Amino acid sequence: MLIRNETVGDIPAISRLVTEALLTLAQSTGTEASIVEKLRADSALALSLVAEEKGEAVGYLAASAARIGTQDGWALIGPLAVLPSRHRQGIGTALMAEALLRLRATSRGAALVGDPAYYGRFGFRSFPGFGVAGCPPEVVQALPFDGIEPRGELIHHPAFGLDQQV
Ligand SMILES: CC(C)(COP(=O)(O)OP(=O)(O)OC[C@H]1O[C@@H](n2cnc3c(N)ncnc32)[C@H](O)[C@@H]1OP(=O)(O)O)[C@@H](O)C(=O)NCCC(=O)NCCS
Repeated sequence: MLIRNETVGDIPAISRLVTEALLTLAQSTGTEASIVEKLRADSALALSLVAEEKGEAVGYLAASAARIGTQDGWALIGPLAVLPSRHRQGIGTALMAEALLRLRATSRGAALVGDPAYYGRFGFRSFPGFGVAGCPPEVVQALPFDGIEPRGELIHHPAFGLDQQV
């Protein structure tokens, strides 16, 4: 398996794979592929990683700049998506490992909204006073690279449609 940056030729496959993977998630909004398109159109994809196997895109991870409270320099990971037929084969783990390696060089930490049962294995956890309005606190997680605990609201890029501004 190869983890690499997206190319122009990947764009239709990324949209299909994100849509298909997220359909398997009960809390999916069905808008995740269009969020990626909006981030791309706004040149806001800090990372756009494709997992490729035998010439096929089987997994995808996006990251974009985010703020926590008044603190800039965070990276928001999401969406992370793996083709349903390829779940539980280590593709999500490989994408996350590469993303964290790269983000350590550019960001003060990574944050995301997702299932703690999955993201806990990468070191993500919730913190008191850290969250997103309307989300259960345990699903809003961060991995500070400098050990400093995040505090305040996790502010996504406007492409996520959460009525917030970075
Ligand atoms: C979540 C997702 C990205 C995981 O990718 P994956 O390639 O299937 O995951 P991996 O094979 O790297 O899994 C690593 C471990 O996590 C476990 N795992 C996978 N999905 C999990 C989940 N949803 N909850 C808890 N554990 C999970 C696997 O069993 C595996 O554990 P093991 O090493 O003890 O066997 C993938 O299942 C997916 O695309 N799901 C639909 C979209 C989604 O939920 N995206 C995240 C949005 S928050």
